[in-house]
Amino acid sequence: MKFFRSHVLVSVDPECVAQGAHQIVDALNDELVAQGLIDEIQVLETSRLGDPNRFGPDLVVYPENVHYANLTVDDVPFLVEEHFLKGRIIEKFRAKETVVTDDELGAPKSKEVRIVLRNCGKIDPHNIEEYIAEDGYQALANALTASTPEKVIDEMMRSGLRGRGGAGFPAARKWQLCRQVPDNPKYLTCNADEGDPGAFMNRRVLESDPHSVVEGMIIAAYAIGASMGYIYCRAEYPIAVANLNIAIEQAREFGFLGNNIFGSDFSFDLEVRMGAGAFVCGEETALIASIEGKRGEPRPRPPFPAVKGVWGKPTNNNNVETYAVVPQILLNGAEWYASMGTEKSKGTKTFAIAGDVVNTGLIEVPFGLSLREVIFDVGGGIKDGKQFKAIQTGGPMGGCLVAEHLDLPLDYEALTAAGSMMGSGGLIIMDDETCMVDIARFFMEFTQEESCGKCTPCRVGTRRILDILEKICEGKGTLADIDRLELLCEEVMKNSLCGLGQGAPNPVVSTLKHFREEYIAHVVEKRCPAKVCKALISYKIEPACTGCMVCARNCPVEAIAGERRQLHVIDDKTCIRCGICVQVCNFNAVSVLS
Ligand SMILES: Cc1cc2nc3c(=O)[nH]c(=O)nc-3n(C[C@H](O)[C@H](O)[C@H](O)COP(=O)(O)O)c2cc1C
Ligand code: SF4
Ligand code: SF4
Ligand code: SF4
Repeated sequence: MKFFRSHVLVSVDPECVAQGAHQIVDALNDELVAQGLIDEIQVLETSRLGDPNRFGPDLVVYPENVHYANLTVDDVPFLVEEHFLKGRIIEKFRAKETVVTDDELGAPKSKEVRIVLRNCGKIDPHNIEEYIAEDGYQALANALTASTPEKVIDEMMRSGLRGRGGAGFPAARKWQLCRQVPDNPKYLTCNADEGDPGAFMNRRVLESDPHSVVEGMIIAAYAIGASMGYIYCRAEYPIAVANLNIAIEQAREFGFLGNNIFGSDFSFDLEVRMGAGAFVCGEETALIASIEGKRGEPRPRPPFPAVKGVWGKPTNNNNVETYAVVPQILLNGAEWYASMGTEKSKGTKTFAIAGDVVNTGLIEVPFGLSLREVIFDVGGGIKDGKQFKAIQTGGPMGGCLVAEHLDLPLDYEALTAAGSMMGSGGLIIMDDETCMVDIARFFMEFTQEESCGKCTPCRVGTRRILDILEKICEGKGTLADIDRLELLCEEVMKNSLCGLGQGAPNPVVSTLKHFREEYIAHVVEKRCPAKVCKALISYKIEPACTGCMVCARNCPVEAIAGERRQLHVIDDKTCIRCGICVQVCNFNAVSVLS
């Protein structure tokens, strides 16, 4: 293995690529050659380092851990000369301090424990040797040469690892069930469909540390007795797909995939199958149908995939994160893993935090942390000094939790008991200016659009629920609509075939439970208390107006009239409620009424 004194990780996130990241990579390599440094400094491509809109194109230099942002090709010769030749950090190129808080990963934040994400941004995902240098494929070697499938399953059982795709089913129990089915061949699938809006936990692991997933899958295949595996990854993740294919190819070259792995009688191979982006294809039976080349629709269970999966054969399906953590558990021991977390939720979990919180992005924390710790300590609290209102956990089929739940521990059972769920790790935090009826409408719009239409309760029910929510947001709802909503939600949840329909009403049910008064304000008083629903608000210019004319110049529909230095006026009939005048007025003279 070749050693370099510095590694330069350039973000090739699609947004950075659009801003010229590949040209930066080429320019860096050319300049390193020109300066005779190419054997000392290695340039690597990695996924997103910070928010590309603020920092791209950007790169991080290790071991110094210096983040340079907003680079151009013209900056490269100076950067190479100053940083790599003269050893001087260039302050003017450095990302501002805010990168630490806004960065997708950055340095671990307080209370973070990185196991799944430990290699992300640190190793070259295209280089198997870097993974091996971090003890990669050691757990596989141990399992194949010094253990047995039964012992591997036993170790995993004692670790308490639960599936990270949503339902939290014990991973080793699923492996054992599949192993015990007296039918062959057996298959393995990895669910890398990750369709929750705003979730990118799996994407980060696949892009930055694909070998951990490949190794975890080979170990699982050994434990189960599977001979072939499929990684089902959405086509919208081109870097993940490319890096997975490179990792699989390298694992084959090193003899970790293929026939007689480590000289044993165990043979296994892997293939990437791309999904076209239908959210429902993340449901495991739909995923299996899609892998087989059929329409991606769920089917009733049982039979479960462990009995009848890909090509009708026993199949074990796990999420990316579930597989990625397996090598670490075997290397460090079940007791080490089980020492983190709560009684029933062991280890750590990755989350994508989004919404009205200071530190948005990806985190990995041990189970058992309270929601308060996640939002305020790891997430840095609510943005712009506003108040916390609610947190949506569990993705689009999850529920909203409120202030009274802030001290709940992150734990599968605790979240379910409170009316939400763990899901795969999406956390959306909302401040006190969020309309909860509008939030319910937003999630229902997503699930309704993604319903595959196979069963009537979900196909028709989600449409009807959405119709009512839209009616309420438009100020046309009635009290009877709220009763109808409740009834419909119950029926859709009870009678739908798969988890999509069974969970889709959750955001409505939970917001009705905790924010019923907001629904009533919409239908009875025709008022949106959070001043969000366009049909229920109006804009007014207050006497504080200085007549600077800025709002009038920015209004897209010329709804604002007034002379210079005179109080301006909004024509309510022309106004389209875009809110631009509020944003551009430097004198806080525009108020929103409801
Ligand atoms: C509509 C729907 C979408 C799903 N999407 C995903 C997904 O993107 N990734 C995932 O791992 N599991 C997803 N699941 C859950 C899977 O059906 C399955 O439970 C999971 O892949 C099992 O892996 P695990 O045991 O490691 O959690 C989805 C379920 C439903 C109902
Ligand atoms: S519940 Fe919805 S997504 Fe699931 S099978 Fe029925 S129609 Fe399709
Ligand atoms: S931007 Fe504000 S101060 Fe200026 S004219 Fe509009 S309302 Fe008045
Ligand atoms: S809300 Fe938008 S459309 Fe209405 S007055 Fe202000 S800028 Fe114009």
